[in-house]
Amino acid sequence: MTEKKSIIRSVGAYLPARVMTNDELAKLVDTSDEWIQQRTGIKQRHVAAEGENTSDLAAAAGRKALENAGMDIADVDLIVVATTTPDMTFPATAAVVQQKLGMHHGAAFDIQAVCSGFVYAVATADSYLKNGLAKRALVIGAETATRILDWNDRTTCVLFGDGAGAVIMDHAKAGEDRGVLATSLRSDGHYWNKLYTDGGPSSTRSMGHVRMEGREVFKHAVGMITDVVYKVLEDTGHTIDDLDWFVPHQANKRIIDGAGQKLGLPPEKVVVTVDRHANTSAASVPLALHTAVTDGRIKRGDLVMIEAMGGGFTWGASLIRW
Ligand code: UT7
Repeated sequence: MTEKKSIIRSVGAYLPARVMTNDELAKLVDTSDEWIQQRTGIKQRHVAAEGENTSDLAAAAGRKALENAGMDIADVDLIVVATTTPDMTFPATAAVVQQKLGMHHGAAFDIQAVCSGFVYAVATADSYLKNGLAKRALVIGAETATRILDWNDRTTCVLFGDGAGAVIMDHAKAGEDRGVLATSLRSDGHYWNKLYTDGGPSSTRSMGHVRMEGREVFKHAVGMITDVVYKVLEDTGHTIDDLDWFVPHQANKRIIDGAGQKLGLPPEKVVVTVDRHANTSAASVPLALHTAVTDGRIKRGDLVMIEAMGGGFTWGASLIRW
């Protein structure tokens, strides 16, 4: 059987209008613009408006991706939403997005892999397409991460932001020699208590807030990221020099720089949005993809590596011929 390659047809994004600066945060907790910029590279983040939910951000990004592909919701038969901040405990945010986009057919579900969610969602949609379980997928990473922050905890509340990014994944047509080339997904649940929420439906019957041993996460991040990147390169017979673009999860500029240096990537090949978006968890990779596609950096035929690492720990990378 010839394997059907799934390609990324388009990208869309949505950022809430409200921008919150580091100086504003310094009025809430004992921090400073200087500390946040030096330790993380973050200058600002977007914050969803009251009543604006993850499904609203996701649907807005999804509409843009459809528009940019010249498609209608009728053309899609699968919606996958990667999120850690669902509108409700259930149903899946993807079901609410399905309703907001006016789709009655197909299937919709969420993926929960925290910051790695979008890479997991791309891998899932890729498998569905390759196995004939779906024909065309709308894959979204969307978060209202600011809703689960403890605004008294300066070690976490300065790090996150809200946003959504989306891609349309489709079967390659005859002659389209591009698409998802390989993916590596990993997790190690022994690290779950390094980055988690201190609550949930089953344990506390409440939502909980983000808790993190930042130094511990930092310590593992670069090694985990580079391991999956090397694995995907090895699986496809490519080398680092073949990469046109590295689109990493945007948690901390120092982690991005550390991974880039370890991989031997020139900084101009690395897409960075953490300064403007902060850490938007599952939304960060599609938001970064959208930024680099829209400003003309990522072009058809380019070799693009996406990667992410986050709570669980989960981590993963995917190599895409754009
Ligand atoms: O997306 C999921 C993955 N998440 C991540 O990748 C996050 C990984 N971790 C990190 O990015 C970094 O560890 C942080 C940005 C969270 C922290 O940076 P760090 O260089 O590891 O700082 P630290 O935790 O070692 O803290 C250094 C100092 C501490 O003070 P003392 O103990 O040295 O007196 C902290 O209390 O900085 C203090 N501190 C702050 N100071 C001002 C911690 N947060 C703040 C703050 N403002 N917001």
